[in-house]
Amino acid sequence: MQPLQLPIVFICLLALGQACQDSASTTTTKDWWENAQFYQIYPRSFMDSDGDGIGDLNGITSKLEYLKELGVTAAWLSPIFKSPMVDFGYDISDFFDIQPEYGTLEDFRNLIKKANELELKIILDFVPNHSSDENEWFKKSVKREKGYQDYYVWHDGKVNASTGVREPPSNWLQAFRGSAWEWVEERQQYYLHQFAVQQADLNYRNPDVVAQMKRVLRYWLNEGVAGFRCDAVPVLFEVEPDENGQYPDEGLSGLTDDVDNRNYLKNELIENRPETIDMSYQWRTVMDDYQRIHGGETRVLLIETYAPPAYTMQFYGNRSVEGAHLPFNFNLITVPASSGVSAGSIKTAVDNWLLNMPSGRTANWVIGNHDQRRAASRYGVANTDAMNMLVMILPGASVTYQGEELGMTDGWISWEDTQDPAACNANEDTYEEFTRDPSRTPFQWTSDTNAGFSTAAKTWLPLASDYETVNVAMESAASKSHLTIYKSLIELRKGSKTLQNGATKYAVLNEEAFVVKRYLSGYPIIVYVANLGNASLTVDLQEFDTTLASSLTMEISSLDSQKTEGALIEVSSIALSAGEALVLTSI
Ligand code: NOJ
Ligand code: MG
Repeated sequence: MQPLQLPIVFICLLALGQACQDSASTTTTKDWWENAQFYQIYPRSFMDSDGDGIGDLNGITSKLEYLKELGVTAAWLSPIFKSPMVDFGYDISDFFDIQPEYGTLEDFRNLIKKANELELKIILDFVPNHSSDENEWFKKSVKREKGYQDYYVWHDGKVNASTGVREPPSNWLQAFRGSAWEWVEERQQYYLHQFAVQQADLNYRNPDVVAQMKRVLRYWLNEGVAGFRCDAVPVLFEVEPDENGQYPDEGLSGLTDDVDNRNYLKNELIENRPETIDMSYQWRTVMDDYQRIHGGETRVLLIETYAPPAYTMQFYGNRSVEGAHLPFNFNLITVPASSGVSAGSIKTAVDNWLLNMPSGRTANWVIGNHDQRRAASRYGVANTDAMNMLVMILPGASVTYQGEELGMTDGWISWEDTQDPAACNANEDTYEEFTRDPSRTPFQWTSDTNAGFSTAAKTWLPLASDYETVNVAMESAASKSHLTIYKSLIELRKGSKTLQNGATKYAVLNEEAFVVKRYLSGYPIIVYVANLGNASLTVDLQEFDTTLASSLTMEISSLDSQKTEGALIEVSSIALSAGEALVLTSI
């Protein structure tokens, strides 16, 4: 059991838009997850062992050594459970078994065994909000079988007074376009689905459901997993029906006139409810109890949440209760997406987390996942290293989505090849606005056929076009590549007390440069500086911090940087080309 850590943290705002976070954490021993390098595997696209064009568990097992070489601490796997694959595993028909095209429970046990040998941790995706409509629970619920009547959120709907026609209970919309309610002839009721029609929302106001889902957690803990990434948590609870048993309508957001798009509504009634926060605390208790009873290292909870900071931060817990170890911090994704990639938007993203995080908690940094376009495509290929460096230099845990270490970019997927329900529910003209397929293309291992991912004639999604140059084989052989830079960063993180325990100060310089200083009494200072603009510029780091020595040593530089490792850099005048990023140290 990890002792409760409450180092004193002072957050202060300095002049010039600079912010610093000072923490007296020199003596604190960190638990494994606090400085962990998490790596997300999208199993369908990582490695195919049996030539069916679809990634699988044995494929992952065969590549665990790669993760070990990278220096990854823990891999989290998108869902591997039995599923009709409407939403590629996020529609689970059996929470206690493995999807046959991915392998068997035996294969999973082999994966865990190999991971244990390599001292890698495996984290599974827990999908608590919904099950597939092919799940036995749903079938029983449709039939109103004893014990399952209220497993899902059912409602009669309402009869339109003027037309006499039955309509859905409310105007709520699902995430993939269209009504969040689906009529079931057999039961003569609507059920709620916040995602696809085939993803029925479980009813968390039913204690049997709460207990069942805790069983799911314990079942996989028994199989040796190190924790869970919890899917779509903010939509777990919806508002309760009013005194007449009706669900109120959502107000209009005013954002779009596309009436099928969920953004059309405010979504205040179906997301970010207080009951959800409490449920996450209950799951934390499951993790802690499990460790208390069975021993071993901390089992972690990582929470998927795109909610505003005031809501997201509650997942951490409070003075009297422990919550998730890490609610994912998606600010580096969402802020630049809405205000453009710039040093300013990066600073806003960092502020959003560090200035709102409760004291004593651990930060984390995410730049991509299977629901977003690829990081290199969003931030610009030139900023690939700058962004990989940033998430490793900032304090706390860092998360990599498979392929970010290579600078993989979006694949282009035709309408005919489109797989993602979010895109299939649109049309040929609009699907590219919604599709998540481009970041799910097969992982690029080599320059050979199918990038070494599969021997199949056709892979489930086509390869991204740059696979012949952007791949593990090429980048490992190169003297300098995104991959070698990524490895050096992990190595630096692992060996640096400053990065593990140090305080943080950061600022925007010259409009387009972002600079971070990490410092810890008695240890070398580490400075990150990146030019995130489109033109060259020259920065004076002493303007940022007058206490810096006049020169620092170049430790790691971005791919196209001409500065050599080990060179002394005059901090008062550092010329940086567009996308150039450096990690400097005081020795
Ligand atoms: C979030 C997952 O990341 C996404 O891929 C999925 O479609 C939804 N939750 C529904 O489970
Ligand atoms: Mg396969």
